[in-house]
Amino acid sequence: MAAPSSGPVTTLAWRGDAHVGHVVLLDQTRLPDEEVELEVHSAAEMIAAIRCLAVRGAPALGVAGAYGLVLALRELAGRAAQHLELVRARAAELAAARPTAVNLPAALARVRARAERELAAGADARALREALLAEARALEAEERAASEAMGRHGAELLADGAGVLTHCNAGALCTVGLGTALAPLYVAARQGKRLRVYADETRPLFQGARLTAWELARAGLEVTVLVDGAAGHLLARGAVQAVVVGADRIARNGDVANKVGTYPLAVLARRHGVPFYVVAPCTTLDPACPNGAAIPIEERDAREVTHPRGIATAPHGVRAFNPAFDVTPAELVSALVCERGVVHAPNEVRLAALLARAPAP
Ligand code: MRU
Repeated sequence: MAAPSSGPVTTLAWRGDAHVGHVVLLDQTRLPDEEVELEVHSAAEMIAAIRCLAVRGAPALGVAGAYGLVLALRELAGRAAQHLELVRARAAELAAARPTAVNLPAALARVRARAERELAAGADARALREALLAEARALEAEERAASEAMGRHGAELLADGAGVLTHCNAGALCTVGLGTALAPLYVAARQGKRLRVYADETRPLFQGARLTAWELARAGLEVTVLVDGAAGHLLARGAVQAVVVGADRIARNGDVANKVGTYPLAVLARRHGVPFYVVAPCTTLDPACPNGAAIPIEERDAREVTHPRGIATAPHGVRAFNPAFDVTPAELVSALVCERGVVHAPNEVRLAALLARAPAP
């Protein structure tokens, strides 16, 4: 089904009630050529949509996973003991759809815990569906509010006239709100600041060229796309005053997993004395993960490298290395921007203090 082509981007939404409703996704595999809505009616369909990146980006994956578990409740039959078994099994399958973004297993743990509480209190299938939909909707609302807050805090770091370089897509398409790394750009633009935005094309799946350029241009922001390898030259020319990226998982010590190619950007930024900002909600922090070496890094099909957009660019049969993410050590991160504020030079002590603080109103 064709999606509307103007107005705010709706990355994903629940349509209908808890019993016969479904999820609608803007199919990101089809952008920027076509705006097509994908209807998702089961947990298995949600897993397929996550694996093929029809829905992607850490906060959006969390919300998609949560709704995926609500969809799984269609399969409920039999006694309450079996309900719990089904919820646990589908939560584990959804969480395994992609391994790096912690938002996905964290959201599923949250919704599964709600299911356990409801079932312990004697909920029947109908009540369980309603409770889990309410939980997923609450997560969606929290992520939307977090986007706005990250936008406000991050915009303070961006001066009028600045050149800002970003990688992958960390905008409205990776969340259910304004975005993570792009949220400060949207807020700065609302404040009347004029920014020159540079978007790495982001090999091999081109989230920068296809998605970031699409959503920024649609919102009326000036954007220039460059091949990933041109970032060093751009920084050397002094065209960039800030690098802003999102994150898929931030370890307890502040190491950051994000789209492959982020780590070299952080090294370049340090070399050229340009601040390197990571913008991510607290749901992307993983205090259980001690450091970057412990973050699971997804490796994807070699054909994404050898056949970008379906076109062979390497000799037939050649091997390819295709990690979807890399790890930037905390020492290269100038500041973490989250909904609770800005943490300069994040490390284990500062992140623990951040998590101990009450959420911003
Ligand atoms: O493979 P993707 O497109 O899901 O990777 C997404 C990213 O790496 C984003 O930069 C990340 O999720 C941060 S945006 C919240």
